[in-house]
Amino acid sequence: MPVVPVIAIDGPSASGKGAVAQRVAQRLGFHYLDSGAIYRAAGVAARIAGISLDDEAALAGCGAAMDLEFRDGGVLLAGRDVTADVRSEEGGRTASRIATLPLLRAALLARQQRFRQAPGLVADGRDMATVVFPDAGLKVFLTADVAERARRRALQLAAAQDAADAPKGLIEKENSAIIRAPFDTVLAAVLAELVERDERDSARSVAPLKRAADARVLDTTALSIDEAVDAVCLWYQGAQAQH
Ligand code: CDP
Repeated sequence: MPVVPVIAIDGPSASGKGAVAQRVAQRLGFHYLDSGAIYRAAGVAARIAGISLDDEAALAGCGAAMDLEFRDGGVLLAGRDVTADVRSEEGGRTASRIATLPLLRAALLARQQRFRQAPGLVADGRDMATVVFPDAGLKVFLTADVAERARRRALQLAAAQDAADAPKGLIEKENSAIIRAPFDTVLAAVLAELVERDERDSARSVAPLKRAADARVLDTTALSIDEAVDAVCLWYQGAQAQH
């Protein structure tokens, strides 16, 4: 049976790998795995089940058994829409914390590998190239300066806030803009959080965030998403031509 091709895209928080990986998948007609969403969903499932974040064995059992479905951009747990919880800042913090636990990582491994289906997969995460798909045909380590990543994440948060304000009248909207934290304050908080998350992701003993020896580095500090997508697709064509 022919091997289903995988493009593994790893990198730190807010490096743009999610957006890039999704667009590469679209362009090639491949499936897409957002492995971070699986860790986030495991945290939400544990909270729903009342499991302590310190109980590694129970977390692993819950993660292995969770009835998780990705549908139309949303995330369902046992049929219940948990997209907002999964995507929240709190969801990311919890995921980053429980992702340090080896039993949980092992429990989620096969679930991630099942996404490898024809005609191909683009997988985004921290350990796609090193642990989950070590035989990936193309491995990309996508990164950007921490200050640029913080700026992008803060802009995302501001856009989400604007969207939440949108249905309100103009005056209310202006008022809520006034009571909102200034952008610089948000930026400083986001930067501190990113530095902490980078440190935790890189320092953990199991599947730490690190570039695979055979991964190509793509620094997106000065690149648009489309330019990054072009670069990955070109590399993929090059990798195919060699086989
Ligand atoms: O990029 P961001 O940190 O905002 O979120 P994410 O990619 O959705 O991942 C959430 C957290 O899950 C990360 O901070 C990592 O700690 C963890 N994670 C992991 O350990 N391994 C993966 N393959 C994907 C995510």
